[in-house]
Amino acid sequence: MAKVKATIPGLLKAKKEGQKIRMVTAYDYPTAAIIDQTEIELILVGDSLGMVMLGYEGTVPVTMDEMIHHTKAVVRGARNTFIVGDLPFMSYNVSVEQAVTNAGRIMKEGGADCVKLEGGLDFADTVRAIVRAGIPVMGHIGLTPQTASALGGFKVQGKDMESARQIYEDALALEEAGAFALVLEAIPAPLAKIITEKLHIPTIGIGAGVHCDGQVLVLHDLLGLFDRFVPKFVKRYAKMDDSIREALNTYAAEVASQVFPGPEHSFSGNEDELRKYLKV
Ligand code: KIV
Repeated sequence: MAKVKATIPGLLKAKKEGQKIRMVTAYDYPTAAIIDQTEIELILVGDSLGMVMLGYEGTVPVTMDEMIHHTKAVVRGARNTFIVGDLPFMSYNVSVEQAVTNAGRIMKEGGADCVKLEGGLDFADTVRAIVRAGIPVMGHIGLTPQTASALGGFKVQGKDMESARQIYEDALALEEAGAFALVLEAIPAPLAKIITEKLHIPTIGIGAGVHCDGQVLVLHDLLGLFDRFVPKFVKRYAKMDDSIREALNTYAAEVASQVFPGPEHSFSGNEDELRKYLKV
């Protein structure tokens, strides 16, 4: 049976019915096409692409043009999966007008179904304006990698009562501003549980425990394709780096030993006739 693309009302219904929402990142056509053949409802074209695809130290250098380039490729590969396009650092932070314009680009040029942006209470007006423009917004609070430097690094957030309250209030403000879902990153599981119970919109956790309405992981972490930095909350479901290395070493050895290409990978012809004709 063909996969039915998720919708925002469908995601709200999933929360009400206690069905977990599954999201994973993707940044290119082939992996998007594979995800499209699975039960995973949402693809996030995350700005994590800066680290796992482009080799930057963090997500800060990622540009709007890079996000649009990768979002377009994912959309071409995954026609039946709901696509979330990330707004990169400084593409929505300067003014509400800038935020609406760039959210529009992710939708119109990239082809995403919604945008995601990092930030809580301080970005409630920005979220409200983007939603008013007709663009669905997924919020992202807790550990917000774009501002990791201001947070003192890639650290668990909301560990003390005061910062837990701040994150709780961020969640309420974003729901009130019209966000249709929230990513909760790297916060204690009990705080995520309380926020999830309080909100009407779904929470999607990454390092936020099992009580969120859904989960998201970075594809390259999940598949074992990125080991420069592996947070505690990552579970590796495969060791694709080993498989890729093994395949490439076998290819290299077979080329060296002339096992590849074999006759089945070659086009036949009559060497003698060819030599006679070419006089060689
Ligand atoms: O960019 C990204 O991949 C993200 C996830 C970590 C949620 O924002």
